[in-house]
Amino acid sequence: MTLILGLESSCDETAAALVDGKRRILAQHIASQEKEHAPYGGVVPEIAARAHAERLTPLIEATLTDAGIALEQVDAIAATAGPGLIGGVMVGLVTGKALAMATGKPLIAVNHLEGHALSPRLAAENLTFPYGLLLVSGGHCQILRVEGVGRYQRLATTIDDALGEAFDKTAKILGLGYPGGPAVEKLARDGNPKAVPLPRPLLGSKEPHFSFAGLKSAVLRAFESGQYRTTDIAASFQQAAIDCIADRLRLALDRMGPITALVVAGGVAANSPIRSALERIAEQHTISFVAPPLSLCTDNAAMIAWAGLEHFELGHNDPLEIAARPRWPL
Ligand code: KG4
Ligand code: ZN
Repeated sequence: MTLILGLESSCDETAAALVDGKRRILAQHIASQEKEHAPYGGVVPEIAARAHAERLTPLIEATLTDAGIALEQVDAIAATAGPGLIGGVMVGLVTGKALAMATGKPLIAVNHLEGHALSPRLAAENLTFPYGLLLVSGGHCQILRVEGVGRYQRLATTIDDALGEAFDKTAKILGLGYPGGPAVEKLARDGNPKAVPLPRPLLGSKEPHFSFAGLKSAVLRAFESGQYRTTDIAASFQQAAIDCIADRLRLALDRMGPITALVVAGGVAANSPIRSALERIAEQHTISFVAPPLSLCTDNAAMIAWAGLEHFELGHNDPLEIAARPRWPL
């Protein structure tokens, strides 16, 4: 059975995982750099690259040990090759290349976004192509039609901030620390989503793209006015975000053609009011809704190993000269 070692280091999580052809995650280790970046309110690229370099090799060793697998037993090494913070991506990709060279196994250079896009198939055996995907993370905000491995039609993207970024910036304004998404969600539970009048950027526009910069500025103005409780600002921000997603997604789904399911991926998929809204939209379009377990939604190496496995089974691999890419649209 196919066995793939996956490596992830494109943002602030260093991770290694072993995944097999039966959709089993044999072992995985993730080291978050939250503590290192928290004082700065966001990810500092140089700190991230150094932390990845220090941690990746021990994490790979621990993953192999936990699974009782020798490196020689894996069929291929899959490493994130972009998009992401280039220093971190280089650490993971160079490590993957070194392991591939040392063992003579093929290297599969995985697009991080493809990892997110295919990860739901690791958890849901019956999820078949084509499906609609809302990818919402700290760096990305896209609606895709996932037609097959390596075949993605992008219907929408953000013209400024990603949704996770908007959550993080809102958290910073409200003094909640980093990462902001979970903190904003928690605070919003005690607030009134109608208390603060906030804009819904691009709502009703003809293309299903996203924009969150104006929303963030409005949050800042509301906060600085001193008129509102922070719980109400958090709840109103979250509601505005949900309204934008719902409007943009409905438009995209109408244009998408037949799909088997609506799938959500990326760190923001952890937000339960957003998940509930997506569930309702899927219901209205009479398609099923698939949300992978939270551990697969946020950055991890199992999704990279899985994307590598899907490519490996199609006979794909990459030359060791392949370069890390800070930008790499799907
Ligand atoms: O996918 P991910 O782990 O990393 C990237 O590739 O960006 O996503 C992290 C993002 C952060 O912006 C974080 O604030 C956001 O996902 N996030 C959330 C929640 N949990 C994480 N946003 C809203 N609500 C949450 N519960
Ligand atoms: Zn990600």
